[in-house]
Amino acid sequence: MLKKKVEDICNRQVEREGFSSNLYLAMASWAETNGFNGVASWLYIQSDEEHLHMLKFIKYINERGGKAIMPAFKKPVADYKSVEDVFKEVLKHEEFVTASINEIVALTLDEKDFNTHNFLQWFVFEQVEEEASARLILDKIRLGGKNNMYQFDRDIMSLRTPAATTQANP
Ligand SMILES: [Fe+2]
Ligand SMILES: [Fe+2]
Repeated sequence: MLKKKVEDICNRQVEREGFSSNLYLAMASWAETNGFNGVASWLYIQSDEEHLHMLKFIKYINERGGKAIMPAFKKPVADYKSVEDVFKEVLKHEEFVTASINEIVALTLDEKDFNTHNFLQWFVFEQVEEEASARLILDKIRLGGKNNMYQFDRDIMSLRTPAATTQANP
């Protein structure tokens, strides 16, 4: 049975993963309507992955005798100055999510909830990948992508790391 404190912070993460999914959808929609179809594809897939992250938390909470609560989501920003601006925001957001996951990990240690601690390890690894892939894309943009957005947009999907870890069950 989940302790209330752990259940509440996991429900907070349901909201954060769901918001991430919506945020990346908003970014995908901006990219798609500004001629960046490759960037949009990358972001649509990213949004689907965040939806799966939300589901993992929902199922875990319910499986452990808690109750996952569907939150209201705040409206993500709809317009961006550039693709670089989008990925700066992606990196900032992933750093925020990493901090959020780390906070839950710390609480599970305080509460001696080793099951939840174990469940979270998948997310700890995932966040390393998420930040690295946002940084890689920003590097590519700064390395010259900015001067040739057509080529960058065409090639961005080749920068995706295989989704194998995303599909694995924690
Ligand atoms: Fe996530
Ligand atoms: Fe993420």
